[in-house]
Amino acid sequence: MSEQQTPAPSDAPPGEPQQAAQVERERRAELRIAGAFLLTALAATILAVVYWRGGHPQWEGALLAMALAGLGYGFVSFAHHLLPGGEVEQERSPLGGDEEAQEGIVDDIERSAPFGRRKLLTRSLGLGAVALAAAFSFPIRSLGPGPGKQLERTPWRKGIKVVDHNGKAVHADDVPVGALLTVFPEGHTDAADAQTVLVRVEEGQAKPRPGREAWSPEGLLAFSKICTHAGCPVGLYQAETHQLLCPCHQSAFDVLKEAEPVFGPAARALPQLPLEIGPDGLLRASGDFEEPVGPTYWNIGK
Ligand code: FES
Repeated sequence: MSEQQTPAPSDAPPGEPQQAAQVERERRAELRIAGAFLLTALAATILAVVYWRGGHPQWEGALLAMALAGLGYGFVSFAHHLLPGGEVEQERSPLGGDEEAQEGIVDDIERSAPFGRRKLLTRSLGLGAVALAAAFSFPIRSLGPGPGKQLERTPWRKGIKVVDHNGKAVHADDVPVGALLTVFPEGHTDAADAQTVLVRVEEGQAKPRPGREAWSPEGLLAFSKICTHAGCPVGLYQAETHQLLCPCHQSAFDVLKEAEPVFGPAARALPQLPLEIGPDGLLRASGDFEEPVGPTYWNIGK
């Protein structure tokens, strides 16, 4: 089936002078549209340069507006001036036919894709699109480097001394049964992710899982102080029930069961820090926390 376009009465074939005027109008429209796309390319290029050189919010906003305005004007103007207007009727006749009919079909197709025929427009639009895409890709730089394994590690290391907030080394006898002490790795008393609570229970009371029996010498237990619910400091210890309490939303963690949550919204145990007692009686870590500390939203699904 071949298709033929029959112009509406208002689009009746113009005479030669009218046709020349129409061609001239289209040429001028084409130049205006190409100019708008080139404006987009220019503004987007300057935008990329301004961003690259440190950025200037006002200039960046103005240039972005200019680039998008050029693009918008170009498309609207193209639709208004260069696309065929009016209503058309299509007569259908069997496909195939002679050479003349086939050429007619090719003409019809070309007429329905006016953008593709106008090299100036396609090139200027391509330039604008590439410049705009380049300008939009630059802010990716602002995201900075990925955190990598940083969020899974703390300054705790094997053999590092356990110190209090003043940096004083903690002796195994400094923490009586029922007491709580906030401790840090030596040299890192300002590391928020390393803050740890140290408690002591009667020896043999805690029920560590296989492989963790040596983590709590003389009943000393150390857990991350950062609540696994929303990151508040778990700073209260109820010795009678052996529970660490988070004041923010009342989560409770049983230190005899590796700080499993027993009440409240926290769903994950406080990570336990493995401890050892040196020959001098000072407490040391025998490694880092095995699990990420804190709420670890970023770790969900791993
Ligand atoms: S932050 Fe601890 S219970 Fe919500």
